[in-house]
Amino acid sequence: MEKFRISKERAFELLAKYGSPLYVYSEELIRKRCREMKGLLSRENFRVNYSAKANTNLEILKIIRDEGLYIDAMSPGELIIEEKAGFKPEEILYVSNNLSPEEMQFVIEKGILLSVDSLSQLELYGQFNPGGRVVVRFNTGIGAGHHQKVNTGGKKTKFAIQAEFIPQVKEILAKYRLRLAGINQHIGSLFLGVESYLASARRLFQLAKEFPGLDFVDLGGGFGIPYHPEEKRLDLVQLGQELEKAFEEFLAEYDNPDLILMVEPGRYIVAEAGNLLGKVYSVKENYGVKYIGTDLGFNVLMRPILYDSYHEVQVLKNPASKETSNKRERVNIVGNICESGDILAENRDLPLIEEGDIVAVMDVGAYGFVMSSNYNCRLRPAEVLIDAGGQDRLIRKRESYEDLLRHFPGL
Ligand code: LLP
Repeated sequence: MEKFRISKERAFELLAKYGSPLYVYSEELIRKRCREMKGLLSRENFRVNYSAKANTNLEILKIIRDEGLYIDAMSPGELIIEEKAGFKPEEILYVSNNLSPEEMQFVIEKGILLSVDSLSQLELYGQFNPGGRVVVRFNTGIGAGHHQKVNTGGKKTKFAIQAEFIPQVKEILAKYRLRLAGINQHIGSLFLGVESYLASARRLFQLAKEFPGLDFVDLGGGFGIPYHPEEKRLDLVQLGQELEKAFEEFLAEYDNPDLILMVEPGRYIVAEAGNLLGKVYSVKENYGVKYIGTDLGFNVLMRPILYDSYHEVQVLKNPASKETSNKRERVNIVGNICESGDILAENRDLPLIEEGDIVAVMDVGAYGFVMSSNYNCRLRPAEVLIDAGGQDRLIRKRESYEDLLRHFPGL
């Protein structure tokens, strides 16, 4: 299975059982992707940290842990869920950005290794934990990604410390007797060619030579998946081979032959394992454009409105429908949020859609539910897992109206 594609019968059955809209995940595919990533390099000193921000459902984290991946965190909330999923402090790398002093102390007290990404936060870390181990995130000048908003390397980003500040980093490390356990980077999210990742890896290896005795170098995530049917799958075999070569060359010149190489995939592990199901409630034409009205607003899936992202959609015909023609139509699939930008899929050529049909959105396992919101006071959807035996199981309850009212003092 390359992508999880829910069957029509199953989709109608699940919506009848759990309600709409609904996120549905395939355990089988998550496990497959974990194994592929672990096999990127076949050597002892290679480690995969799942980047939890892509999907933090507790049950999904448990599966990923069971597959032997480690994990990153970027907020106390992620840390807390990861601990609940069974990850031990030494299996977590906290890749931070602009932590409050309280958050930093929280991480230190838990004994979790922290990556800082500014001189001021390195200074703060030194004050809180003199003599401790720390990680520093560098920007090697190379960025990548499907949108400027998720490009986190190069000249136009708030992230990391540029190489020119290495002397200042060394100064702060010495001042607080900090031991630099590793260096990391993340150039951006979603590349499908191997070049930018390899180029940035070589640069980070180069930079690592400035710091003898590191335990690891962490290259970050960003491994893309083909959202569009015409996109080509990332060639993990080629990437693995070239990475292995670059790493070998680096190790030959480095003082710690056991240094661990780490990667931090988020999307690659979970994206294709998720489908989002919603119902069609209205069909209309406005000035020559056909609109399919569903319950899949941008409160449920934010990627299209935020990044103009493409997600393939499947039309699952209502078994009660009398429509038997093979007619197709050009349509906009829209949600139920009161903004004109609330378009899930624009100008798509699809089989004729009617009220009562189901729309299944593909590749939503990453940055889907985690970016959902209560905008328009809508409830966040439920999540269901199709387990390895093919059984469905609720792994997150749908929100309730009590949840919406919970935070008003005095109610
Ligand atoms: N490591 C760090 C430090 C990161 O900031 C990220 C993602 C990752 C790893 C994992 O990246 P991945 O392998 O998933 O590409 N909401 C956007 C993506 C934002 C990614 C943020 N950082 C989207 O829906 O495309």
